[in-house]
Order: sequence, then structure tokens, then C-alpha cells
Amino acid sequence: MNILLLNGPNLNLLGDREPEIYGADTLADIERGLSEHARAAGAGLDCFQTNHEGEAIDRIHAARGVADALIINPAAWTHTSIALLDALNAFAGRVVEVHLSNVHRRESFRHRSYVSLRADGVIAGLGVYGYRAALDYVLNGAERGTV
Ligand code: DQA
Repeated sequence: MNILLLNGPNLNLLGDREPEIYGADTLADIERGLSEHARAAGAGLDCFQTNHEGEAIDRIHAARGVADALIINPAAWTHTSIALLDALNAFAGRVVEVHLSNVHRRESFRHRSYVSLRADGVIAGLGVYGYRAALDYVLNGAERGTV
């Protein structure tokens, strides 16, 4: 099974950016740990981060018919991007939306998610573990034949 991990804007600064909110792990740390976990489960994890909305949309298009599932932290685009929602609606596999922070405990503009209109599941506030939980969900779903 092929899984795409897509991280949106500013997440390349993880570990350095507002660590009291987003934690001390770098994106490279997170991607390495998740890739190892996926490999041990016999799955492939393709990791992609971009600060450019069009690139994220192009990457989702490229995943159509190739990736079985998408784990996405859309970062600020969560709250703004109908274009990203439309791209996700054109992707047939499982979609899990992950946020490191609990967006519902933060500013009201973070309470709305366009991506949640498409996501099969949403994880927020569990820090880096949220990515791992999303990956386990996708991997276990494959075992059940539901992904
Ligand atoms: C975030 C939450 C978003 O509101 C914010 O814009 C981010 C990160 C999170 O992981 O908690 O950049 O998606």
C-alpha cells in the first residue's frame, strides 16, 4: 500500500517555530519515524511538504490512482482553501486530517476546517502522536480491507 504524507505551509519550521504549541520534533524527525513505521508494516510512505498551495494541489492530483491513502496536515490552508478541498474531493482514497495543536482551543478562525468536509477522520491536539495514530488507522484499515 502507498500512503502520501502531505504537510502544508510553515511546517518545514517544526522544532523551531512556536515549540510551545507545535513541539520540539523537526519535520525530518517526524517523517523518519513514520517512514520506518510504514516500512515495518510493509507499506510505502511518500513524504512531501510545501509552502505553495498550487504545489500541494499538484501533489494531490499526482496521488490519484497511485496512493491508497493521504495523511494531511494542511496547516493554515485548513481554514482558507476551497481549492485544496476540491483537490481532495478528486482523490478517491482515505484522507486523514492531522493537526499537532488542538485547533478548537485556539483562535476562532482556526475552528473552521474546509478539509474536514472531505476527511474520513480528524486528529487534533495530540502532537506528533496524531500522525502516528493516523498512520496506524490507515495501515489497520488496509488489513481490514476497508482502505
Ligand atoms: C496546524 C494548526 C493550524 O491552524 C496552523 O495554521 C498550522 C498548524 C497544527 O498542526 O496544529 O500551521 O495545522
